[in-house]
Amino acid sequence: MKLTAANADRHDLYQRSVQDVESEIEFVDTTFKKLRGRFAQVLREDFCGTANTCCQWVRQRDDNRGIGVDLDAEVLSWGTNNNIAQLSPDQAARVELLQRDVRETDDGGLDIVLAMNFSYFLFETRADMLRYFVSVFESLRDDGIFFLDCYGGYDAPRVLTEERECDGFTYIWDQASFNPISSLMQCYIHFTFEDGSRMDKAFAYHWRLWTLPELLGLLQDAGFSRTTVYWEGTDEETGEGDGIYTPATVGDADAGWICYLTAEK
Ligand SMILES: C[S@@+](CC[C@H](N)C(=O)[O-])C[C@H]1O[C@@H](n2cnc3c(N)ncnc32)[C@H](O)[C@@H]1O
Repeated sequence: MKLTAANADRHDLYQRSVQDVESEIEFVDTTFKKLRGRFAQVLREDFCGTANTCCQWVRQRDDNRGIGVDLDAEVLSWGTNNNIAQLSPDQAARVELLQRDVRETDDGGLDIVLAMNFSYFLFETRADMLRYFVSVFESLRDDGIFFLDCYGGYDAPRVLTEERECDGFTYIWDQASFNPISSLMQCYIHFTFEDGSRMDKAFAYHWRLWTLPELLGLLQDAGFSRTTVYWEGTDEETGEGDGIYTPATVGDADAGWICYLTAEK
């Protein structure tokens, strides 16, 4: 059946166009092992949405446990019915979804906390971001690691739209407004389909465009002992990113970049 705005599911489109949970979990798992000399077991996915990443974490190893946290009951129930439902009973028993604010603190038993797809940019002030980072710090084990991603580049504060062709639909990233005084911006994801139909504002994000030095400073203020930026390498043939992220202190002044951060307790 051809995808149209009437029959497509926005969460399914998001997972197929935005997320690459296999590469993300591979990076997180191997980086934790490199830094700590052991495999992580308990991972909390903040802003988990449909908990796709949590599900990949429990598929990765038989003793992995995943906890997904999101405020929105609708996305959590979609994740339960569509993602957790596809796991084996043993894997499903190792996923727990919690409907609550990510700033609630766990008891310090987590190996990893993940904040991906820039969701934490929705904290707009230093005080709110610091409060979140402190609660992550307190939720981690003594050798726990907080993983985040970040984006930027000279196109990041521009008002623009970018289109990408996906299988049966087009993904449109819309940077609709940016206020240089507050660094607050309004972004949307729209989807269009081969029959000409359009799913407008399928997702909306109001957030602050943070810079790496601001975030690294706040992570240090929250108590993390070491922070590292992982920058993407360049494919020599295409000149595009090669998907391999390594520790760096100098990045390229590109139009658009995405990087990972680790903050070690
Ligand atoms: C951009 S989605 C992230 C989806 C997924 N984590 C990913 O990487 O693609 C943002 C999610 O954050 C949730 N959210 C927003 N504020 C939150 C908060 N303070 N605590 C918990 N979840 C929150 C929203 O309900 C939404 O599902």
